[in-house]
This record gives sequence, C-alpha cells and structure tokens, in this order.
Amino acid sequence: MKLCVIGTGFVGVVSSAVFASFGNQVVGLDVDENKIEKLKQGIVPFYEPGLTELLLEQQGHGNLSFTCDYQAAIQDADVIMIAVGTPSAPDGQADLKYVLAASESLAPHLKNNAIVVIKSTVPPGTLEKVEAKIKQHTQVRFFTASVPEFLKEGTAVFDTLNPDRIIIGADDPGVFETLSELHRPFNAPIVKISPESAQMAKYAANSYLATRITFINQVADLCEKNGADIQDVIQAIGFDKRIGKHYWYPGFGYGGSCFPKDVKELAAYSRAIGESGNLLNKVSELNEERIAKLLDGYGAKMGGWEGKKIAVLGLSFKPQTDDMREAPSVKVIPYLTSHGSTVMGYDPKALPVVSSFIPEHPQASYTDSIHQAVKNADVVIALIEWPEIIGFDFAPFGNSSNSTSKWFIDARNQFDKQKVLSWGYQYLGVGRS
Ligand SMILES: NC(=O)c1ccc[n+]([C@@H]2O[C@H](COP(=O)([O-])OP(=O)(O)OC[C@H]3O[C@@H](n4cnc5c(N)ncnc54)[C@H](O)[C@@H]3O)[C@@H](O)[C@H]2O)c1
Repeated sequence: MKLCVIGTGFVGVVSSAVFASFGNQVVGLDVDENKIEKLKQGIVPFYEPGLTELLLEQQGHGNLSFTCDYQAAIQDADVIMIAVGTPSAPDGQADLKYVLAASESLAPHLKNNAIVVIKSTVPPGTLEKVEAKIKQHTQVRFFTASVPEFLKEGTAVFDTLNPDRIIIGADDPGVFETLSELHRPFNAPIVKISPESAQMAKYAANSYLATRITFINQVADLCEKNGADIQDVIQAIGFDKRIGKHYWYPGFGYGGSCFPKDVKELAAYSRAIGESGNLLNKVSELNEERIAKLLDGYGAKMGGWEGKKIAVLGLSFKPQTDDMREAPSVKVIPYLTSHGSTVMGYDPKALPVVSSFIPEHPQASYTDSIHQAVKNADVVIALIEWPEIIGFDFAPFGNSSNSTSKWFIDARNQFDKQKVLSWGYQYLGVGRS
C-alpha cells in the first residue's frame, strides 16, 4: 500500500520505517524542515535503539522517503496516518491544534476513498472534528479511523514490530478490512471496535499503568512509616495472579511523554463532562507533588540540601532514550539548586537536549562521564536505571574516612542496600527501611 505518515516524531519515524519494512511505500511528512533534512540523510533526530539501522535499510530499498511537501506526500496515499503531537492544553485537555492543522493541510490533496487514520492519542469526539475540517477543503470521498499507538520509547522498534494487539477503531467495514490487511504482517491480535472505544482504550491503558505506579508509591510511603520494605511487599503480593509480579515501579512517580499527559487529559475530559470526582484527578495531583515531597523528606534526613554537592544520574525519563519530556530530572535539578545544592547531572544520551528542559543555573553543570559526576559528590541520586549507572563501581567514591556522611538515593530501588552501605554511603531508597 502507499502510506503517508504525518509527523516524524518518535511515533512517526518508527511507524514509517516499520510499515516500509513490510513492503509498503511510505512517505514521512513533517513541517520541521531540519528534521526532514536529517531524516533524508538517514539521521534519526533522537536516540532510539535499532531505528537508524531500520531507517537506512528501508531508505536503501527505496520504500521510505521523507518530505515537507503535503501535495507530493498525500496525492497518491491510500492511507494517511496522523502521528503529530497532542500536548495538554492549559486546562489539561488534549490540544488538537496540530491534528487539526495536519487535517486541513492534507485535505486538498486527498485522493478518492483515502483513509485518514489518527495514530496520535486523542479523546473521543476527535474524528468528527477531523472529518469536519477535511470536508471544508475537499469534495472527495474519504474515510477516517483511529488506530492508537502503544510503543514504548527505548524499545520502540521492537514494540512496533511485536505489538500485544492492534486496535482498529472504525465504523466502516471496508476500512476495517483495509486496515486489517495493512496490519496483518504484525501477526498480532486485531481488535476491531468503534473509534470512541479505541480512543478510550488508549487512555485507559496508560491511565491504568500510571495509576498502578501511583498506587505502589502510596503503599511505599506507608512502608517508610512502619519499617516494611516495599520490595518485599511487591514480592509477596505478586503471587496473587490477579495482581502479578510485573510492572511495579515504586519511585519518584511516572514521567515521560505519555503518562503524565494522558492521565491529565483523561482527568480533564472527566471534569469537562461533569465527572469531577474521577480518580484520575487525584492520581495526577499525587504524581505532580511527589518529587518535592520525597526531596523534602530526604533533605530532612540528611540535615538539609544547602551546600551539598549532588550527582544526579540519569536525565532522560527512562533508560535507552534521550527524551526528557516530564523526566524526573526536570523537577529534581531545579529543586536542588533552589535549595542551595550544587548539581552535576550525568546522562549517556540526553546531554544535547538538557538546555531545552532545564533552565541554566550557575550551580548546575552536566557531564557524560559518570566518574566525573560522582567523584566529588556528597550525595548520589540514581534517578534512572541506565545500565551505565546500575553497573558503575561506586566503591572508590564512598566515604572511607567516615568524617562526613555520604548519601546514596536509590530513586528506583535498583541497588542492594548492603552493597551501597559497603561502598561507604548511607542508603535511602523509596519505601524501604
Ligand atoms: N512518544 C511515545 O512514546 C508515544 C507512544 C504512543 C503514543 N504517542 C502519541 O503519539 C503522538 C505523537 O507523539 P510523538 O512523541 O511521536 O510526538 P513528537 O512531538 O515526537 O513528534 C510530533 C511531530 O509532529 C510534527 N508536526 C506537528 N504539526 C505538524 C503538522 N501540521 N504537519 C506535519 N507535522 C507536524 C512535529 O514537527 C513533530 O516532528 C502523540 O499524540 C502521543 O501522545 C506517543
């Protein structure tokens, strides 16, 4: 099939390359000329393992190209996938301005019977708005559908090639048929439902996972008051098959480009339809407050943050990505500098984007050498479980003289407490005594 993917961000580039690898003819389209120039040269403008190789391979086969030209990209496309950003508006609801701008730009070039698929995360009711916008600019017959994306950054290529399921939200049987055909090579269960159900399924999935993180954080906070260890509690409850051992992450709260935004959007949607008591409002609020609350608590245990030298390890929102959208570092570092600490931040991939997320501060500097970050630090905060951080030998940097305390904050409970103590640090985890 001939495809156009609009928006060459994380979702758009991965989707373009993967659909091309299935033998489709794919054009990736973006309004960002710099991004398109890089992609044309086979350069992925962000870090995602395995993506550059796939991109170069498909460009080499002639299946994949990139452009800023709407007419050239749309006029022959059987299926157009909109994968532009949907940030939260100031009231928390999804801001559809990019989706509607893309709809308006594509409309005049649509061929008859083309299918416009929304891959971006959008609330129920969006397809009507998209259809109305397109109809203002074309007379041709077209169809719409919602096919939400579930990839995870850091493992996006694998996730896209091996989805747990494909959700196709559409009303027309012919659209189901065409999109099922397009997705058949994924060899995954295909769930055919209405567009509204597909959109709610995407929000429900992310909101559930975010709520699960918030839930275990709440239990972790209680553990700290009574000597229980949250990791032992997780192990114990995990034997219940209804609960399971997987996906428990007590820590500094959920972050990234999707969970915070999607929970806020569903919460705002609930308020907009008169359901202001919806649980997700509280989930979002607890997550927003979490980092300051934890840092206040750690500061109190360490005799305050003033004058301390801190190594903040891991600036991206999770390992194997350079994406810092809603990363814990974005809140942690300004908190520390505003409390009188001097910070050296370390990350193996995210340094080029730090200045877009954390305002410059004379007491904050950054390095791609973990050794450099840790060597003079009074406090190590292991924020993200990059292998470079988990596998680092901290032993030479702990406090051997015992004259002053050095502290190790294990923000994701990734380290063995006894080992950290043996390195000469005092250990502070999340929900651990
Ligand atoms: N990033 C993820 O892990 C992920 C996972 C699942 C779903 N999603 C959803 O997918 C959507 C895209 O997310 P992303 O992280 O890839 O976004 P992104 O911000 O990385 O990329 C969006 C791209 O859209 C382009 N764009 C904006 N307006 C445009 C227009 N009118 N025409 C052409 N291009 C335009 C931007 O220049 C940008 O390159 C969002 O709705 C997001 O919630 C993201």
